[in-house]
Amino acid sequence: MIVALDHIAIAVPDLEKSIKRFMEDFGLNYEGTEHIESAKTSTAFFPLPPTSIELVHPLNDEGPVKKYLDKKGGGLHHLCFRTDDIEADIARLKEKGYEFLSDEPAIGAHDCKVIFIHPKSCDGVLIELNQPQTS
Ligand code: CO
Repeated sequence: MIVALDHIAIAVPDLEKSIKRFMEDFGLNYEGTEHIESAKTSTAFFPLPPTSIELVHPLNDEGPVKKYLDKKGGGLHHLCFRTDDIEADIARLKEKGYEFLSDEPAIGAHDCKVIFIHPKSCDGVLIELNQPQTS
């Protein structure tokens, strides 16, 4: 079951510059940057309870965020719903015809299990599902 809006992600071409903006101009709390090898993405998190802002940037200048930036130059990238049972939600949505970007969840930021729903299944919006491994 989906239980929260975990985060909203923005793709940024210059990660350091954007981190500075969110810290200094917007005054948000910078939690740190993680490099997610499986997604070829660097992510910077700014908790803004009850949700967070995530900045996403290509890791090693490759991967899906690189393609997105090449095409769009930055922008709103995805939103993430937190679930308390990712396997059940995937099964339920697959049965309704939703397509996913991978067959199985992978380990993403914060060691959560994550999977992405294809944007064509949701009016052009990329939606991530995540489940903290402790729940
Ligand atoms: Co995300």
